[in-house]
Amino acid sequence: METIISGIQPSGIPTIGNYIGAMQHFVNLQDEYDCYFFIADLHSITVPQKKAELRKQILDLAALYLAVGLDPEKVKLFIQSEVPAHCEAAWMIQCATPIGELERMTQYKDKAQKQDTVNAGLLNYPTLMVSDIILYDAAKVPVGADQKQHLELTRNFVDRFNNKYAQKGQTLLVKPEPLIAKNGARIMSLQDPTKKMSKSDSNPKGFISMLDDADTIRKKIRSAVTDSEATIAYDPENRPAVANLLTIFSSVTGISIETLVATYEESGYGTFKNDLAEAIVDWITPIHERFHQLRESEELQEILTVGAIEANKKANKTLRRMKNALGLGRK
Ligand code: TYM
Repeated sequence: METIISGIQPSGIPTIGNYIGAMQHFVNLQDEYDCYFFIADLHSITVPQKKAELRKQILDLAALYLAVGLDPEKVKLFIQSEVPAHCEAAWMIQCATPIGELERMTQYKDKAQKQDTVNAGLLNYPTLMVSDIILYDAAKVPVGADQKQHLELTRNFVDRFNNKYAQKGQTLLVKPEPLIAKNGARIMSLQDPTKKMSKSDSNPKGFISMLDDADTIRKKIRSAVTDSEATIAYDPENRPAVANLLTIFSSVTGISIETLVATYEESGYGTFKNDLAEAIVDWITPIHERFHQLRESEELQEILTVGAIEANKKANKTLRRMKNALGLGRK
């Protein structure tokens, strides 16, 4: 069985964009692959975080992973900082990565612009991501479109490392393929359809959080920007705001975009937005119920403990191969 890995940062509560671009695919893939999913807490400290909020958000995210449908019998769910191999391998990866490659990453450039001082962790972020992926011998990595460049960097690193260090016939590191869905891989802000929806957006009207209550969701959808055209149509190029709302509508209901367009073409934005908001509320209500059952439970703690044990087992094997390849420590 091939292995899949993916992570989400606990730098806020996941948005409906994280669900559509990533989490829903995790759920669909769990029957076919050996799956590792994690809470990328080490990644989140590349920008300032508040200690108490971070701790809370780690467990919120863990409970959400399960509430959306991940089955702990099928997947390993763990917290990144509870597997020390991630940092150890990241160091080895940094020592074999030219700075220029990291400076070219668009996410680094975006995030660096927003900071007064840029710390080394922000630049090295993609090397930690390489580490997350290669430690599990992952063949596939389901992610949204914004992670494509980091996956390319990972693939290049694997080629370089294997070429240099793999012995004849040895699979030293596995080269991963990104799994990026055709639709919904880039859900946009509700306030600005040229910007991706982000859990760390300073304007909460731009995103729907997976823990927003029904009235907040209704208000946010009501205030979502559209355009001045009279009809509803799917035209991502020229009418990105409406196309984004249609993509969200289709993702939470399973109704195709064509059927939604045929239904709402002439209905006006009022009816369309009203029905969209109710569709999101209907879909998210049972997720909230499961979330609240799990959040304070012993079960959640046990799942994370078992997940960390399994993840450490797997990651340490790869780490040993890397150390041997580089000649570190003793055999
Ligand atoms: P993060 O926490 O920003 O996002 C988690 C996942 O959600 C996807 N995503 C989106 N998809 C569609 N529309 C959006 N607006 C949207 N925003 C986010 C992301 O592409 C991602 O799949 N670096 C990663 C976390 C990470 C990781 C890894 C992922 C760390 N190590 C190893 C895969 C493998 C990140 O910041 O995701």
